Amino acid sequence: MVADDASVGFLHPMPAGEAAAFWRAIADGIAARDILLWAVEDGGGPIGTIQLHPAGKPNGAHRAEVAKLMVHPRARGRGLAKQLMATVEQAARDLGRRLLVLDTVEGGVADSLYRRLGWTEAGKIPDFALKSGGGSEATVVFFKQI
Ligand SMILES: CC(C)(COP(=O)(O)OP(=O)(O)OC[C@H]1O[C@@H](n2cnc3c(N)ncnc32)[C@H](O)[C@@H]1OP(=O)(O)O)[C@@H](O)C(=O)NCCC(=O)NCCS
Repeated sequence: MVADDASVGFLHPMPAGEAAAFWRAIADGIAARDILLWAVEDGGGPIGTIQLHPAGKPNGAHRAEVAKLMVHPRARGRGLAKQLMATVEQAARDLGRRLLVLDTVEGGVADSLYRRLGWTEAGKIPDFALKSGGGSEATVVFFKQI
């Protein structure tokens, strides 16, 4: 996915161990109840995942961030991302979180997906994420009141 230029926090080529270290930190966050993660598998392995990061600060008890929506290239275009977004939204509601935030690279598939799912653009930050091949791209910050 990183090699396909997906803007998910990493640059291609990833140094050995970087992905494993990332997932270990996520596992620690799950164990600490700071992160909720959903993963979908088929017979060939994982095909989709998404995370919810409920804000930990006292004044953010109503808020959560949606993160790392990823669908494997072989499973795309079948509605899995929409199902994962619906799942995370329902979980946030169940936790009493009524404000969701996320950000994504400007102009990508996810940018238009979030708009169609009722998310509102709060603004754009230029030069936010470096690209594997050089240069950088803007991120769009979205929110949704649920
Ligand atoms: C963005 C991503 C999660 C979409 O996953 P997906 O399971 O293929 O998405 P869905 O099948 O649920 O499709 C959702 C919508 O996007 C559209 N879509 C999906 N892939 C598309 C593409 N390549 N080009 C244009 N539209 C596309 C679908 O037609 C659908 O539109 P609809 O609302 O009109 O029905 C997937 O492409 C991905 O993992 N990309 C790399 C990681 C990434 O960028 N994640 C977002 C980080 S914030």
